[in-house]
Amino acid sequence: MLESIFKEIILDHYRKPRNKGAIDGPTVTIAMRNPLCGDEIELMLAIEGDAIADVRFKGQGCAISVASTSMMTQALKGKPLEEAVDLEQRFLALMRGEEAAQDDRRLGDLRALQGVAKLPVRIKCALLGWNALDEAIKAHRKSDRGLIGEKLEFEDLTAEVPGAEPPPAGFDPRKVKGELPE
Ligand code: FES
Repeated sequence: MLESIFKEIILDHYRKPRNKGAIDGPTVTIAMRNPLCGDEIELMLAIEGDAIADVRFKGQGCAISVASTSMMTQALKGKPLEEAVDLEQRFLALMRGEEAAQDDRRLGDLRALQGVAKLPVRIKCALLGWNALDEAIKAHRKSDRGLIGEKLEFEDLTAEVPGAEPPPAGFDPRKVKGELPE
């Protein structure tokens, strides 16, 4: 029952992504590409003071990457950067399959993605937008005036999450594109 609700939440975010589009004059823009499948998400943030005044994304990805990024943007709007970093840590704990994270109300809709922790090959998909967020916050903190003029482009070369099993040899994410956790 709970699993089918989770699946519905994921599909809803995939079909009607929240905060999709571009921001006028973002203070930081990060393009993050998953080299395993070629999908790329561009995340734009407008950071005012030390808070995320606006956040939007565009690009393409599988159901899990789009749904995860959509839920992430929803959770981030108006949040201080410290809280955004805290949320990222909570989401990483969810991806490690930690039980406390599965009951963590601060994660909101993001808890619907807890089934991904059982699919190590898809964790990279769920983290695509979060890795972009991570780079965006780092770039913002490094910049003098908080305004990064050009778009910064990255390939996600990280292993999934510490403690998660690596994908099996020969895994091709293109073949599982669009699949959802059972
Ligand atoms: Fe490309 Fe999920 S991000 S298959």
